[in-house]
Amino acid sequence: MIEFQAVTKQYPDGTVAVDSLDITVEDGQITVFVGPSGCGKTTSLRMINRMIDPTGGSILLDGKDIRESDPPLLRRGIGYVIQHAGLFPHRTVLDNVATVPLLTGTSKRDARKKAAELLELVGLDAGFAKRYPAQLSGGQQQRVGVARALAADPPVLLMDEPFSAVDPIVRDDLQQQLLRLQSELDKTIVFVTHDIDEAIKLGDKVAVFRVGGRLAQYDTPSALLAKPADEFVSSFVGRDRGYRALGFLTASGVPVGPLATVKVGEPRGTTEGWTVAVDADNKPLGWVSPDAAEEGTVSADGLVSGGSLFEVDSTTSGTAGSLRNALDSALSSPAAVGIAVDKEGAVVGGVTADKVLAALAEARRSGEVPT
Ligand SMILES: Nc1ncnc2c1ncn2[C@@H]1O[C@H](COP(=O)(O)OP(=O)(O)O)[C@@H](O)[C@H]1O
Ligand SMILES: [Mg+2]
Repeated sequence: MIEFQAVTKQYPDGTVAVDSLDITVEDGQITVFVGPSGCGKTTSLRMINRMIDPTGGSILLDGKDIRESDPPLLRRGIGYVIQHAGLFPHRTVLDNVATVPLLTGTSKRDARKKAAELLELVGLDAGFAKRYPAQLSGGQQQRVGVARALAADPPVLLMDEPFSAVDPIVRDDLQQQLLRLQSELDKTIVFVTHDIDEAIKLGDKVAVFRVGGRLAQYDTPSALLAKPADEFVSSFVGRDRGYRALGFLTASGVPVGPLATVKVGEPRGTTEGWTVAVDADNKPLGWVSPDAAEEGTVSADGLVSGGSLFEVDSTTSGTAGSLRNALDSALSSPAAVGIAVDKEGAVVGGVTADKVLAALAEARRSGEVPT
């Protein structure tokens, strides 16, 4: 648990970046600090690992004032991830991740073994280990940044706008991955962003900051949408909050209907309308258009692409996509049907936009989200 008690930071030039902040960050949760640029999010985050010292108040980590901890020792238990990953350019990906364990006395062999495991955990296969950071995409670099922050297995993870510099599709993927990791790792995560959608998607609790470093509201995402504390929060959360609610309702509750599939290499047969072409593992490859001839086999070249996928997996927590993913999937599909897949990526069925909206309406009726 991390407790901010009347924490203030005034920089030497007189700027009050954080003003008497009281907040408790719970263990094993993702707590998001969100707010417009310059409202003191980074300053608040960096005070937790003593990169910045407060000018007033105290921060307690598990009940102990962090001023009593030696900064390097304190940081060993606190991973830190920043926007451009901050990787060492002249070290390979594997060595980047192995750096911290090596520093703390792990043998070279064990450090590398651990690093390879972590790379796999964040979704990078072994082929990336020998590359240098410049040879990776922005999204891949961020994955390495997360793996490196996890290398010392710290109970606390601080993340400062880690996904802000990557494009929206990759960002969505990284967010999904973080939720998946967290469902396995149960870290205490403090995540900074200026993006309210990201905050609502990732946060168990969300702290909205206003300029001047003051806390405007600290609540669960649904409470924030349902009962904004004041004008500032309500304008920051925005008018389209009904749409935002789609972001934190999981797609697992949407009734998934049957979807015609055909394996590539096999005859299309008697399927009618839009049909999903799948590979041997039942993973979708694209759509077979209704005009495609009935005779002949379905080939991977002739498929109509388009339509994102969304995950429905009610068996494990944290892996399902959001209702928003489901709606995006339906709206972006040439067949107007979103493709639901399981954890392995195999087709489960299809869903139309009206089914998604009906699920949202139902959640509103049951009081799960604001109307
Ligand atoms: N080293 C510094 N010296 C003076 N002012 C600073 C310094 N770092 C940040 N600030 C100011 O403190 C305020 C909060 O900054 P910051 O914590 O970086 O905000 P955010 O991360 O929310 O964008 C801003 O007004 C910023 O200009
Ligand atoms: Mg910042």
